[in-house]
Amino acid sequence: MPRLAEIPLLTHSAAAATTITRSAIARLLLTAFTILLVFHLTISPSSKSTYHSLFLSFSNNATVARHLLALTRRPHVAGTPANAATAAYVLTVLSSSSLPAHSVLYDVFLTYPLGRSLILSPFPPPSPGPTLAFDLVQEIYPGDPYADVAKEVLPTFHAYARSGAAAGPAAYANYGRLEDFAALRAAGVNVTGAVVLARYGKIYRGDIIKNAKDAGAAAAVVFTDAKDYGGGGRGRFPEGPGMPASGVQVGTTSQGVGDPTTPGWASTRGCERWSAAEVAASGLVPGIPSLPVSARDGEAILKTIGGQVAADDWQGGEGAPLYRLGPGPGFLNLTYIGDETLPTIQNVFAVIQGEEEPDRYVLLGNHRDAWTFGAVDPSSGTAALLEVAQRFGKLQKIGWRPRRTIILCNWDAEEYGLIGSTEWVEENREMLASRAVAYLNVDCAVSGPGFQASATPQLDELLKQASEKVRDPDNSSQTLYESWIASNYSSLIGRLGGRGSDFAAFVQHVGVPSVDMIFGGGYPVYHSMYDDFVWMEKFGDPMFHRHVAVASFWGLVALRLADEEFLPFNYISYASELQRSAKILEDDALGMPVTFAPLYKSIKELKKAATEIDNQRKALERNFLSLNWRKDPLKVRELNDRLMMAERAFTDRDGLFGREWYKHLIYGPSTHNSYGSKSYPGIDDAIEKAKSSNTSDSWSFVQHEVWRAARAVTQAALVLNGKFT
Ligand SMILES: *[C@@H]1O[C@H](CO)[C@@H](O)[C@H](O)[C@H]1NC(C)=O
Ligand SMILES: *[C@@H]1O[C@H](CO)[C@@H](O)[C@H](O)[C@H]1NC(C)=O
Ligand SMILES: *[C@@H]1O[C@H](CO)[C@@H](O)[C@H](O)[C@H]1NC(C)=O
Ligand SMILES: *[C@@H]1O[C@H](CO)[C@@H](O)[C@H](O)[C@H]1NC(C)=O
Ligand SMILES: *[C@@H]1O[C@H](CO)[C@@H](O)[C@H](O)[C@H]1NC(C)=O
Repeated sequence: MPRLAEIPLLTHSAAAATTITRSAIARLLLTAFTILLVFHLTISPSSKSTYHSLFLSFSNNATVARHLLALTRRPHVAGTPANAATAAYVLTVLSSSSLPAHSVLYDVFLTYPLGRSLILSPFPPPSPGPTLAFDLVQEIYPGDPYADVAKEVLPTFHAYARSGAAAGPAAYANYGRLEDFAALRAAGVNVTGAVVLARYGKIYRGDIIKNAKDAGAAAAVVFTDAKDYGGGGRGRFPEGPGMPASGVQVGTTSQGVGDPTTPGWASTRGCERWSAAEVAASGLVPGIPSLPVSARDGEAILKTIGGQVAADDWQGGEGAPLYRLGPGPGFLNLTYIGDETLPTIQNVFAVIQGEEEPDRYVLLGNHRDAWTFGAVDPSSGTAALLEVAQRFGKLQKIGWRPRRTIILCNWDAEEYGLIGSTEWVEENREMLASRAVAYLNVDCAVSGPGFQASATPQLDELLKQASEKVRDPDNSSQTLYESWIASNYSSLIGRLGGRGSDFAAFVQHVGVPSVDMIFGGGYPVYHSMYDDFVWMEKFGDPMFHRHVAVASFWGLVALRLADEEFLPFNYISYASELQRSAKILEDDALGMPVTFAPLYKSIKELKKAATEIDNQRKALERNFLSLNWRKDPLKVRELNDRLMMAERAFTDRDGLFGREWYKHLIYGPSTHNSYGSKSYPGIDDAIEKAKSSNTSDSWSFVQHEVWRAARAVTQAALVLNGKFT
């Protein structure tokens, strides 16, 4: 591992592509420039955009790399002393940038592994043959700079897995999706009482376990197939980016959002709390024991599974044994004992008071807790957050004051089920509902090349504009816009219905316009011991320019939302997006007794309202350009409030049918893959049920869901218009 002092102290500006040398002359010039600039800014108070350009020029890959190195020195799982130490680090950096910082604590239900064992026999009892007890250990490699702290990595486990023992013949279930279990049934493979072996990669791991339980399995084992995580020909870590043969992806299996013992309210000390029995009965945690295992252990199990040969697309990669379905004769005996505890977690905040509208909030959030060292997940995001904070601190020193309040949020216990952010959003629900302008999330900032963003659609235009101001970190002769959007016209900005990160409570529970962004995407060493600084430096972001680009983009979007007189929201793109997704569902229900006419009518209303408010804003701006005109600040505020509150109107107090915590009727998670985002999740669920039962009642229910969504869209149109009926 490179030591701190070995990182060159070069200041690299990704934005202006200027390298400031250490020479005294350059420093003198810089000082002179800054003095001139401060002078310029003090005489022209409206030049917020000058500050924004300056923000981009402050970019520094050396400091962001230093933060990452400091944050990833030890594994820092939620609720552990090591993660309290990272909180202290974040607090120190924020304070030393003159940003007032504080922590908010919650006591939350977490589980840690106490005991695990997994024993494989080639034959079932009573004549099991020679047994193999897996050691379930991720191995250090020669020269591993983390060898000294490797024993601080938690034993591999699934958070919230049911404690207990289970034994049965092994059966192979591909990616553990509903369709995989359906294929097994169709092939006559009965997994009742079996220990199901599934591979990671297509759906949320909690849904794999749930599907296995629903199919009758006694327990589940989930492995990392080298075909999906081996590094694709580039080799395994440390030579290549791939997952080592002993590497294991750990993670949560919670089916809920937030602390499972406080569903819907905050886990403040001494609050009302469900008992362990109530939690177990709720379905928010899995009903069977499970363990994650490595590629090597998964292959060893597969070698003992007989029966029908699995289909080609169920097979492994080159060099893998032939995969068969079972069940048996290979026999697995699994035990897992979890320690169920109520530790204290710590969200850290820094607040930059707005000068003109202190009661309007622009929030930037990232989580801090990691399953292991967490260089990608999430410390790259934490390092970027600190980089943004330090640049904001510098802007303040030369006179910048945001118009609206900026809140930097550093969440805890995201890995267990978005707990830190969800508890805080639940605690502050009504404040946020009346005051939050936008929430900008970064979980992993960087896992490789290729920028990706998801957003609620009124922010699409702002994202495109901001990407034109940031240089592409992988090709300095073009902008992020050119490498992201212009190079891929078919690429759409993603949507935020999934439950993959801390935006969920903001979007899906309260209806706050939000963004989520990352360089890269899935990466092989995800949630394993090998997600460390060495991996990042070798494969994720060798020069830390992608980190810098995320910080620049994230901060710029925040600055525009915080500083511009009129909120840069565009609801015309929201209306187009609603129209497009409605058409997809309408096609899905083609020929069925359902009409989407009410929904289309409401979308038309929204589009009209969006065009109108756009014209009203332009009129206010035009008047401003004419002489002697003073904009009425209340008129500006009233228009902005309509833009801010329209997103809230997409939420419904009753929430989605059967999963009421999700209030947003336009974006929510897929029922079968919590990572997946659905548009109109209520309609989507209803169509799926109606298709399988095909009763007239079930189609009437689809119609009811169409009406509900239409009413929400109409409410949003009324809010944008600012006129009651
Ligand atoms: C699967 O096996 C279980 C127990 O071995 C049995 O009760 C069940 O009926 C079987 N299901 C089918 C579809 O054969
Ligand atoms: C599973 O292993 C445990 C010890 O780890 C043993 O007590 C138990 O009998 C085994 N169960 C079966 C069915 O082999
Ligand atoms: C870098 O960007 C320029 C301008 O868009 C383009 O012409 C060039 O091909 C790019 N280079 C690489 C290596 O992608
Ligand atoms: C273009 O965007 C789509 C959708 O986001 C993505 O799946 C695809 O990989 C992208 N293609 C390139 C060349 O970046
Ligand atoms: C920062 O970027 C410069 C080149 O632009 C590079 O020489 C330097 O090694 C980078 N710093 C780190 C910590 O990677």
